[in-house]
Amino acid sequence: MSTVVKVTRRVHWNSAHRLYRPDWSDDRNASVFGACSNPHWHGHNYEMDVTVSGPIDPETGYVMDMKALKDVLEERVVGDLDHRNLNVEVEWLEGLNPTTENLVVSIWDRIVNQLPEKVRLHRIVLWETPRNYVEYTGGDPAGDSA
Ligand code: NI
Repeated sequence: MSTVVKVTRRVHWNSAHRLYRPDWSDDRNASVFGACSNPHWHGHNYEMDVTVSGPIDPETGYVMDMKALKDVLEERVVGDLDHRNLNVEVEWLEGLNPTTENLVVSIWDRIVNQLPEKVRLHRIVLWETPRNYVEYTGGDPAGDSA
């Protein structure tokens, strides 16, 4: 039996976006997405908590080196999103309406296979504003993907 512990890294970036469907009129987009559908874009300061879980390595005392997690998040996520327009500048978001829900699932897919052996992506919490966040723990409808 090994002791499983969850560890979390918080990252921050800002991005511009617009919520809209190109197949809807501006009026319909405005009525569904409100101010977030402004055709001239707007920005958010995103905060994200990424939690991984795994056994404590008896040699290091770590579940995972936080520097390694920081590097994965920088290379796979933050470096692509920071000071960018999510609708037009990010290849892996192409064709996606950049709601926080869609973003968190795309971010999950970017990092879930980038972790060391024995370390599992447990949860991502993504804050779009200080008052709204979404949470994702993976897509397996059967429940725990462990
Ligand atoms: Ni917005």
